[in-house]
Amino acid sequence: MHSDNDTPVQTRVQGRVGWITLHRPRQLNALNDAVMDALGAALKAFDADDAIGAIAITGSAKAFAAGADIDAMADWSYMDVVQRDFITRNWETIRQVRKPVLAAVAGYAMGGGCELALACDIVVAAESARFALPEIKLAMLPGAGGTQRLPRAIGKAKAMDMCLSARMLDAQEADRYGLVSRVVPDAELLERTQALAAQIADYSLPALMAVKASVNRAWEGSLTEGIAFERQALYARFASVDAHEGMHAFLEKRPPGFTHR
Ligand code: HXC
Repeated sequence: MHSDNDTPVQTRVQGRVGWITLHRPRQLNALNDAVMDALGAALKAFDADDAIGAIAITGSAKAFAAGADIDAMADWSYMDVVQRDFITRNWETIRQVRKPVLAAVAGYAMGGGCELALACDIVVAAESARFALPEIKLAMLPGAGGTQRLPRAIGKAKAMDMCLSARMLDAQEADRYGLVSRVVPDAELLERTQALAAQIADYSLPALMAVKASVNRAWEGSLTEGIAFERQALYARFASVDAHEGMHAFLEKRPPGFTHR
């Protein structure tokens, strides 16, 4: 029998643009290892393909991605995440891609989904796009660069608000704050992203790579240290009873009862 999870990402090529579509519809594209492994493999393949000049990542009309897979993580221990090297295994790939990567975001981009968008070079948001880092509700923290990239993107005040309160931004707010590059009508999201990616893909690839590397140089600063710090902080959450309670409460559709308030 064929299930949704047999094809966690779908790829296609349109002109010189390589498209990657996250495809776990029943879980709102929650990012488990299978999705992240397939995403990483697709990114590497397009990056190495001379026929591709730019890469675009998208989800569904309802969700770009609703975050890391809470169901998969709920019972992981500290040792589990350290041993599987949870973040490094999958999430670093996108930083290594040298070609421009665009995110075409409709619906929810939450937690790891928001962090995935933040890791892309250009974010095109549909009017329906919603951005949040709600990990605090699970007694967790953003662990795929969110605490480092979000303040750089939108400033400390807005980033603290989003991370500490789980505030969700709509597309217009995200545009105003600088989290996204452009906002377009939902019906035009793919077409407009394709046009933008195709325009970019027509430029000189070495020049594009130089621009990307240079802008990232300005943006990153001590990001590496920040990410390493953040990773340890995330891994440590798996040693806490509150994080397991938060994730199980979500899965059981009940309010969490945290021990450490
Ligand atoms: C696992 C998830 C999921 C997730 C949704 N689902 N998000 N499963 N992990 N992150 C599942 C639900 O359990 C549900 O399964 C189905 O997808 C549909 O979701 P609903 O909640 O019924 O949909 P809706 O009422 O429309 O609400 C949408 C939503 C909500 C607002 C996006 O699903 C939500 O709050 N999701 C969790 C978002 C979140 O906390 N993200 C951060 C995760 S932690 P069933 O089986 O009931 O149909 C994280 C840490 C990153 O990202 C660390 C580094 C990677």
